[in-house]
Parts: sequence; structure tokens; C-alpha cells
Amino acid sequence: MGRDVIIACDFSSKEEVISFLSKFKEEKPFVKIGMELFYAAGPEIVKEIKAMGHKIFLDLKLHDIPNTVMKAMNVLSRLDVDMCNLHAAGTIAMMEAAIKGLTREDGTRPILIAVTQLTSTSEERMNEELLINKPIDEVVMHYAMNAKKAGLDGVVCSPLEAAKVHDTCGSDFVTVTPGVRFADGDIGDQVRVTTPVKAREIGSDYIVVGRPITQADDPVAAYRRCVSEFVG
Ligand code: C5P
Repeated sequence: MGRDVIIACDFSSKEEVISFLSKFKEEKPFVKIGMELFYAAGPEIVKEIKAMGHKIFLDLKLHDIPNTVMKAMNVLSRLDVDMCNLHAAGTIAMMEAAIKGLTREDGTRPILIAVTQLTSTSEERMNEELLINKPIDEVVMHYAMNAKKAGLDGVVCSPLEAAKVHDTCGSDFVTVTPGVRFADGDIGDQVRVTTPVKAREIGSDYIVVGRPITQADDPVAAYRRCVSEFVG
């Protein structure tokens, strides 16, 4: 799987996202659609952006009983998304059911990645509220291995964890990493950030970049800079 930049299209309406993507005349960036836009605009927004020629990472983070996840994944697969995700906390059985639901009759399916522990969950809260009494790094790697055992393609993680995930799960296990900022850019509300150059050095397969591109004065130039720093 080649390296690529995925733009997090965190807009709240169809009009905003279409107007943003219309600025791209030459390239067709891989885009991430999250819960806010999907719940506001519905599955039609996926079809419309696909029809414009973009690849889509549908970031809905499914987590339910295996049968429900299998059926929901089947619907997403028919929407022809290129990548989707779930919570590894749903267990290996849930992840296996997800793959079953995603796999089309011809054997193809979107890339499926797992969220291990959300970066908003601190080790302290995980220990005290969730009663998981282990260091968070160990939990993240264990959940990544569970995802691999279930047959998933990779995980969402911090670029700073990408090398360790590759060491633990293999170099072909995909790492999709948010928290990327240009060396001279604002970090906003992100805490542990990495530049596109550094993310490439650490070995991220995909970087997810939102505001440094969507809020830039010239989003196309910012996207191109990101691609040249990350993909080379
Ligand atoms: O604007 P920014 O580049 O911070 O956007 C990053 C995107 O990645 C957002 O859609 C955010 O929700 C998502 N994300 C993240 N950190 C995680 C998981 C997802 O920033 N741990």
C-alpha cells in the first residue's frame, strides 16, 4: 500500500465540503468523512464525493455486537468507500464479523482499520474508569495485534507510535496517523504533533491532515506541500 495524504473534511454541511473540494482541479485527494458530516448529509454525500473522483475514508468507528457490525459494514461496502474503521475494543469476534460484512461478492473490500485506545483517553482514566490496569502503550499494541489476528489491515495511531506498531504487527500492517502539522504552522488543539517529513521518516502509511489544509489561505498549495513532504 503506497503512502498518501488524507484530508480530514471536518465540515458540517454538504455545501461546504463540495465547495472546498471544487478548489482541487488537477488532483483528487483522498478524503476523510467523519460522523458530523455523515450524520448531517447522509450516505448521499459519500456517493457525490466518490462521483467527483475522490477516494473516501469513512471514519464512523463502529462498535456494537458482531451481527450488527457485520450488517452495517455490508451497507458501507456497497457505498463503495475505500477505507473504514471500528473500535478494536469490540473484540476479535466483532472485527471478524466486520470483515465478513465488508467483503464483496468478488472478494474485494475496503481497507479496514481499528481504533485502539482513543488519544483523548489518558492512561489514568483507562486504569480508573475502564478498569484496564496496564500501561496504555501495552494496551494499544495488544489491541493492534488483536486487529491483525482478526484479519484487519491496520490501525489509526499517533505518528509517534507508527514505528512500534510496525515492529509489533509487521511492516505491511497499515498505520493511519492524524496529529500532523507543518513545521511552521499552528498546532491548534492537538498536543503531540509531527510534521509530514517526520511522519514519513517514522513510517506512517497514511497521514490524516485537517485544518492545516482546510483552513489554509490556499488549500491546494497546502495539500501539495503536504504531499511533497510526506510522499516525496
Ligand atoms: O484538523 P486536524 O488536522 O487536527 O484533524 C485531524 C483529524 O483526525 C480530525 O478529523 C480528528 O477528529 C482526527 N483524529 C485525531 N486524533 C485521533 C483520531 C482522529 O485528530 N486520535
